[in-house]
Amino acid sequence: MEQFRGQPRLPKFAVPKRYDIHLKPDLVACKFAGSVQIDLDIVDATNFIVLNAADLSVAHNAVSFKIQTSSKVFEPSKVEIVEEDEILVLEFSEVLPLGMGVLAIGFEGTLNDKMKGFYRSTFEHNGEKRNMAVTQFEPADARRCFPCWDEPACKATFKITLDVPSDLIALSNMPVIEEKPNGHLKTVSYQESPIMSTYLVAVVIGLFDYVEDHTPDGIKVRVYCQVGKANQGKFALDVAVKTLGLYKEYFACPYSLPKLDMIAIPDFAAGAMENYGLVTYRETALLYDEKHSAAANKQRVTTVVAHELAHQWFGNLVTMEWWTHLWLNEGFATWVSYLAADSLFPEWKVWTQFLDESTEGLRLDGLAESHPIEVEINHAGEIDEIFDAISYRKGASVIRMLQSYLGAECFQRSLASYIKKHACSNAKTEDLWAALEEGSGEPVNRLMNSWTKQKGYPVVSVKINNQKLEFEQSQFLSSGSQGDGQWIVPITLCCGSYDTHHNFLLQTKSDIKEFLGCCVGGGNNKSSAVCSWIKLNVDQAGFYRVKYDEKLAAGLRSAIEKNCLSATDRFGILDDSFALCMACQQSLTSLLTLMGAYREELDYTVLSNLISISYKVARIAADATPELVDNIKEFFISLFQYSAEKLGWEPRPGEGHLDAMLRGEVLTALAVFGHDLTINEASRRFHAFLDDRNTPLLPPDIRKAAYVAVMQYVTTSNRSGYESLLRVYRETDLSQEKTRILGSLASCPDPNIVLEVLNFVLSSEVRSQDAVFGLAVSREGRETAWSWLKNNWDYISKTWGSGFLITRFVSAIISPFASFEKASEVQEFFATRTKPSIARTLKQSVERVHINAKWVESIQNEKHLADAVKELAYRKY
Ligand code: BES
Ligand code: ZN
Repeated sequence: MEQFRGQPRLPKFAVPKRYDIHLKPDLVACKFAGSVQIDLDIVDATNFIVLNAADLSVAHNAVSFKIQTSSKVFEPSKVEIVEEDEILVLEFSEVLPLGMGVLAIGFEGTLNDKMKGFYRSTFEHNGEKRNMAVTQFEPADARRCFPCWDEPACKATFKITLDVPSDLIALSNMPVIEEKPNGHLKTVSYQESPIMSTYLVAVVIGLFDYVEDHTPDGIKVRVYCQVGKANQGKFALDVAVKTLGLYKEYFACPYSLPKLDMIAIPDFAAGAMENYGLVTYRETALLYDEKHSAAANKQRVTTVVAHELAHQWFGNLVTMEWWTHLWLNEGFATWVSYLAADSLFPEWKVWTQFLDESTEGLRLDGLAESHPIEVEINHAGEIDEIFDAISYRKGASVIRMLQSYLGAECFQRSLASYIKKHACSNAKTEDLWAALEEGSGEPVNRLMNSWTKQKGYPVVSVKINNQKLEFEQSQFLSSGSQGDGQWIVPITLCCGSYDTHHNFLLQTKSDIKEFLGCCVGGGNNKSSAVCSWIKLNVDQAGFYRVKYDEKLAAGLRSAIEKNCLSATDRFGILDDSFALCMACQQSLTSLLTLMGAYREELDYTVLSNLISISYKVARIAADATPELVDNIKEFFISLFQYSAEKLGWEPRPGEGHLDAMLRGEVLTALAVFGHDLTINEASRRFHAFLDDRNTPLLPPDIRKAAYVAVMQYVTTSNRSGYESLLRVYRETDLSQEKTRILGSLASCPDPNIVLEVLNFVLSSEVRSQDAVFGLAVSREGRETAWSWLKNNWDYISKTWGSGFLITRFVSAIISPFASFEKASEVQEFFATRTKPSIARTLKQSVERVHINAKWVESIQNEKHLADAVKELAYRKY
């Protein structure tokens, strides 16, 4: 018995083949009873059967094992649940014979309120509060619903039967085959599933409306949502039907189940979950309201649907062998969702927007406390934390890098053969590389190991010397220190025009190259009419940063001013420069000067990154050089004037999706930096909105900007804007509206109001899934937020501690600090309070505080910063 404790994986002497599961939830008492019969293949002589179970009660006499050949029944001599290891150990007094048998277990459990396992979610119907029952099993919570081999490689078929109140809708992965009335209840049975992993099993029981459509192949697709809101499901339905068609072609393999249901759940921890044939979503990620949803909401619905549907192939049909390969699921689904979105909505330019993914990946992976894409997992409790920007965003970015290196066609062909080879089975990272290596003839495995098996990424320094380019790679760390990683870096570059393209693999620490026709920056600077520049990492397809020497950097700055570069390259130059500045490898003066070159920027992705960089710069300056903050804000306000004037306040006839999204971001920035005209106009429009929620003066795309603007003037003695927002929050039944409001409240500069907001976030008026949106705290409120976190830690830890949302409390409130003293204070507080589910996030947040503190010192030591800032702030255009 002891030998089974503390093991990362279950022993493999029994292999499950088929589950026959019966569940009977009680939605009023919040309990459930169940039984499971598991067809097992005993492959090693043993007197033990060890499987997963957690938070379930299993009665000793409810367990039996019947072997197939003789129908002999074995009763266990001992039945024990080991709570720490989440296993159920059955000991038999005889050795079980090899071959097939059926294990039967009866059990009971609670419909919990933790949004995992088999849980309850609440909704209102005819003014009455009611429960629904929902499952969320990924990564390792099927064991909280029925005893099982809860590992992705233990695939089996599932036959599910439910006893539920007869007035409710009951859904599972497969279509219903029979519904039998049974008193107040009905017994619903579903077709047996194809073989699949336990984390993809799903059940939802509640009251819903739906809309329905079919694919050309006759697959029935439905979107289920709150009663009365079926119309809001139409957009996602349309996206789903089209996306199924796209993927069928891209993967050269049809969707493998007879139906696809997608359903909005009011209490949901993640954004969405790709359960096979029954995808569950947060309301904000599935429902689209023509009148009150913003363009950003529309895009979110599209990406999330495309992401979850990608998993139906990449994840569900071909499943990672173990959580170490989680990134195969998540990185790939993230990447491919852009492919689908781009094909459905080319005008959204989502491949430019993809750079938001890369930059977040680079940001996290620039920490010493990052982890490799392929990460060792030794305990179920460690899995939650790896659903992070490394698995998703770095994962997706290295796939993009590889696709761009191998070419789109070759990449697709090889993927299709990977899917075909591993369908209904499991795969590891090497299996994907093998398929791509075979399809391309390139050494994919060797190339990619440097990206997936070690953490971090390189910064490539480039210098021009006598017409020759000198390249050198070193590991980039945001702390400014140098790591010792080395990568095989696919270098691409263009000189002076996108027609001259060069590429090579940088396989060593440094290299020198001479490219014909590359005469940039060398010697005589005759004609300024020609764009004279060299850009590395063309299109930002590679997962690395570039540091240019002075001459090359000046060439690029002027190329930006003359509008010679693509949006992706403009993004990359700015983003790398910001990262280098934060790592104290470049002055703030040079960053600000570069930012000045983006004055006429109108591309959504570039400008929105410029805005988020400006927020970070303004915050760090408030710590480093408070006397310059006003001038810096002036400079930023002047920087966003051009785009603000072009965009105006109201949609222009026929304008695009990207302009609609951009307008909100630019106006928010102006409000945050204290631009009075913007704040006053926002408040005028907000009042019109309070009088009439359908006023054309405040379309959904600028609502958040207006809310943030209104909150800038709220104080304890002038609370009306805050009170009004709370009223709108209470009155709306659209989750996206609630989220917009929650996301703006704590931007208030008055710490007392921030405290009220944070307390509101913990109240019963905010669903626990949404609390994290309220943590976007103004700089003025950050100290208050930290005290609040300490004072409420026990409650927060109890309420969110069993899921991944708790990490957001830690990172959102700690990372904004910028002093070594604060970092020590944080460490001291958590010394006795840390736990596995926040350990990594806590270390990362403290590291960020150290990075900020160093950055502050470096800015304080900058010589000509004040002059430069004044010059930029008062420059006339
Ligand atoms: N498989 C995940 C859901 C998940 C996340 C389960 C964390 C368990 C823990 C799903 O496919 C997913 O990635 N959802 C994303 C949305 C997506 C568009 C990035 C999410 O929940 O944020
Ligand atoms: Zn996913």
